[in-house]
Amino acid sequence: MRVDYNVPLDEKYNITDDTRIKATILTIKKILDDGGSVILMSHLGRPKEGPTEKFSLKHLVKHLSELLGKEVQFANDCIGEEAVQKSEVLKPGDVLLLENLRFYKQEEKGDEAFAEKLSKLGDVYVNDAFGTAHRAHASTAIIAKFFSPENKMFGLVMEGEVASAEKVLNSAEKPFTAIIGGAKVSDKILIIENLLERATDIIIGGGMAYTFYKAMGGNVGKSLVEEDRIGTAKELLKKAEAKGVNIHLPSDSIIADKFAEDADVSSSLSNTVPDGWMGLDIGALACDTFTKVIHDSKTVLWNGPMGVFEMEKFQHGTKCVAQAVADATQKGAFTLVGGGDSVAAVNQFGFADKVSYVSTGGGAMLEYFEGKELPGIAALK
Ligand code: 3PG
Ligand code: MG
Repeated sequence: MRVDYNVPLDEKYNITDDTRIKATILTIKKILDDGGSVILMSHLGRPKEGPTEKFSLKHLVKHLSELLGKEVQFANDCIGEEAVQKSEVLKPGDVLLLENLRFYKQEEKGDEAFAEKLSKLGDVYVNDAFGTAHRAHASTAIIAKFFSPENKMFGLVMEGEVASAEKVLNSAEKPFTAIIGGAKVSDKILIIENLLERATDIIIGGGMAYTFYKAMGGNVGKSLVEEDRIGTAKELLKKAEAKGVNIHLPSDSIIADKFAEDADVSSSLSNTVPDGWMGLDIGALACDTFTKVIHDSKTVLWNGPMGVFEMEKFQHGTKCVAQAVADATQKGAFTLVGGGDSVAAVNQFGFADKVSYVSTGGGAMLEYFEGKELPGIAALK
């Protein structure tokens, strides 16, 4: 079973966010309850030099064992004698975690011989690694060819992710509002373009909003602006108008004299930010406007924060949107939150169980909503 246990660890190797591990527990238990044993494989981080203590999956064994309520075995290598031997003696109900797949460069290269070695360890291939589904790696895609159609399948995480993404992309009840935030327009062009074909409303927040204001001739002070994307921003606004999609930009901003927790803070309209000041969060007017739009929606997709929510002074906008998305959910809307930062935000503010679905995918979720076919999904079709 391929899982995405690429989770954040602190200096002492404590897991600081176990969402991705927890998400797989149901799939693992299903296999065990049905009389199987499970061999788990994952990557962790981006090791470039082979085996590295910092990227060892052994740091996850204790917590995973606790979550499963049984002792998880560990193999110090994902292929080779130890992996083969430990896999062979597994009894029904046993769980074995293999060492980081990326300790072999063959993993990211999608090497066939490496994929085949992995495939030999088990009888059935389950892909439950939605977070890594945008990578065409040996364990996420190539391996599938070594299993017959009835012996390869999605796990429950993958199934849930795909079902909720499909619901938003292809059968969204209207009004459908997409909330797109984050620092850079360049990261979000493709998703906005794809959503222009589907959404009724697009809310744009975060640092990227200032490139849009600059494109409209506004004065944004020293806010983050991607000069080379001003043309793109203009294009997107024009396309939205042609398609009748409402674009909502934050009319006002919380501004600061520097990018720091101890900055001087004030507020201004987003198109008249004074020289020497920068927008680091959406303002109170924007929070009101966005809230109304979100409350009226039947479908909401949220990717990217509204401000620098890691700093207390600039987290109000992201909190405000999280609250509005939770309210909409309670009123019956289908709401999906995805992308590393927005997921961290809903977790931090305690809204994770107040929205319909929290995606375990960052890059994978983004690419899915850009309309791309993900290799990890395609390999099982
Ligand atoms: C992620 O966290 O984005 C996935 O686990 C994929 O990792 P990668 O970006 O290093 O391929
Ligand atoms: Mg990534």
